[in-house]
Amino acid sequence: MASDADRSPPPKIAKIPQHVAVIMDGNGRWAQSKGKPRTAGHREGAQTVRTVTEACGDLGIDYLTLYAFSSENWKRPKSEITALMTLLERFLKSRTSEMQTNNIRLQAIGRLSDLPKRCQKALHESIQATKDNDGLTLILALNYGGREEILDGIRSVIRHVQEGLLDVAMLDPEVFGKHLYTRYYPDPDLLIRTSGEMRISNFLLWQISYAEIVITDKLWPEFTREDFFAAIEEYARRQRRFGGVNEETS
Ligand code: FPP
Repeated sequence: MASDADRSPPPKIAKIPQHVAVIMDGNGRWAQSKGKPRTAGHREGAQTVRTVTEACGDLGIDYLTLYAFSSENWKRPKSEITALMTLLERFLKSRTSEMQTNNIRLQAIGRLSDLPKRCQKALHESIQATKDNDGLTLILALNYGGREEILDGIRSVIRHVQEGLLDVAMLDPEVFGKHLYTRYYPDPDLLIRTSGEMRISNFLLWQISYAEIVITDKLWPEFTREDFFAAIEEYARRQRRFGGVNEETS
């Protein structure tokens, strides 16, 4: 890990989002552009995970959610899936002590019980080891799909109604949000997507209702600390109205 002295100081930004979510896209294209196998792109992408996590900590951002493996990613070649799972397991095993040093609390969302057992074990150990940290909460979306999450939420609501724990008349967005994987976290204020694609790709469909979106052409492995700061500066320039009107123009 780069020492504090090697890292550029974070810029002073007037408005820092509490929660940033990222669709990390472009690992494959980055590798292809270098004549390397796709898995080399994922390895390089794991370095960017570290860079962006550090930058979040330096800015005082509270939550960072990373789309690391979607429900649809199982359609990839078996060799690529194995490489991604191995990378995840190694990342968890090798970075947990670093997370401790940096006061990072690790969390995960998605249908985690379908991940390979070794990944589940490593994930569980990292989550347990970092559970009392109160700096940045790093949330990995793994085997995650927004539609699947909403369906799981509906199942949970039905169960609660059948058990007499919830009155249907009480169901509103806030109550429903308590049945989602993300119930412990605030909604993202900012969604960043790399590699220029204008898509949401089944990521946090419910939670990004009012998030600002910043899309950059940079591929994830080449996305730098400065690119991340630029995205936060872009966010700080936006006027968020949440369906209302600007205070200045009302
Ligand atoms: C999208 O690039 C990226 C992924 C599907 C996986 C993201 C995984 C990492 C960044 C590395 C491991 C993560 C952790 C947390 C250790 P793509 O392969 O779809 O790129 P392409 O669109 O150019 O093909």
